[in-house]
Amino acid sequence: MKRVLSGIQPSGVLTIGNYIGAMRQFVALQHEADCFFCIVDLHALTVPQDPAALHRQTLDLAALYLAVGLDPKKVTLFVQSHVPAHAELGWLLQCLAYFGEMSRMTQFKEKSAGKESVSVGLFTYPALMAADILLYQADLVPVGEDQKQHVELTRDLAERFNHRFGETFRVPEPLIPKVGARIMSLDDPTKKMSKSNPNPNSYISLLDPPEVIQRKIRRAVTDSEAEVRYDPERKPAVSNLMEIYSQLAGISLEEVAERYRGKGYGVFKQDLAEVVVSALAPIQERYRELRESPELLRILDEGAEKAAAVAEATLRTVKERMGLVLPARYRQR
Ligand code: TYM
Repeated sequence: MKRVLSGIQPSGVLTIGNYIGAMRQFVALQHEADCFFCIVDLHALTVPQDPAALHRQTLDLAALYLAVGLDPKKVTLFVQSHVPAHAELGWLLQCLAYFGEMSRMTQFKEKSAGKESVSVGLFTYPALMAADILLYQADLVPVGEDQKQHVELTRDLAERFNHRFGETFRVPEPLIPKVGARIMSLDDPTKKMSKSNPNPNSYISLLDPPEVIQRKIRRAVTDSEAEVRYDPERKPAVSNLMEIYSQLAGISLEEVAERYRGKGYGVFKQDLAEVVVSALAPIQERYRELRESPELLRILDEGAEKAAAVAEATLRTVKERMGLVLPARYRQR
């Protein structure tokens, strides 16, 4: 059975971009692979967070993971900071990573552009992400397009470690969906849809009520034509809306184009809003039941225990290979 690991930051309410690009793949994979999904709270700390909001959003994300259909009997769901091995291996990998390769990470360049104070953590973030993946010896990492470069860096670090210290890490592959790997902002099709965008009209959150979804889609930018046609180069805004439609209605882009031939943007947007509302309704209902349930923390505690057992075994080997004297907790085993 293949091993899968992925993570999501609790840095805001998840968007349909996170859902289409990542979470839907998680749900499909749980039936065929040994899956570890984590709430990467340590990654969220790379930019300033309000402590109360971070706390709330971590539990919100746990409930959402379950609400989209992940079964805690099948997958291991846990909070990154509950497994200290992540921070430890993150440090060891920082000492293996080069300043030059880290400087080439486009997400860092985007997130730090124009900011006066940028944390060191934001810069070294990809080494912690590599630790998340390598601790579990993951074969596959389901992510959206924007994380591809980080998974490639993870592969480079794994190969470098194996070469220098002996075969230790499995070298993982990114798993990126063919359609929907990069859902764009509703107000600007040149930007990725993001939960940390200060303008809420740029994204649809998984928890937006129906009337908000309808309004956001009505206001979404299109173009000066009136043709529902997939052409990401010339018609990026409409093509993005078509991707959302196709993914949430479960039909191909060709079928979407066929359905709206000669109908104009008004009808298309109205139907798209309906498609989104009905895809999210069952998720929102389950979310409300789960969010206040005492089960939630129990599931996370159990997940952390299972995750730690796997992570600790890898960390022990890594420390041994690097020449660190093993601490008592490892020697006594
Ligand atoms: P994060 O929290 O920004 O996003 C979570 C997942 O959602 C995908 N995604 C998108 N997909 C399509 N369209 C979009 N507009 C869109 N926005 C986000 C992301 O690609 C991601 O798969 N560094 C990661 C979290 C992480 C991680 C890991 C992922 C930490 N450790 C280990 C995989 C494995 C991040 O910030 O994702």
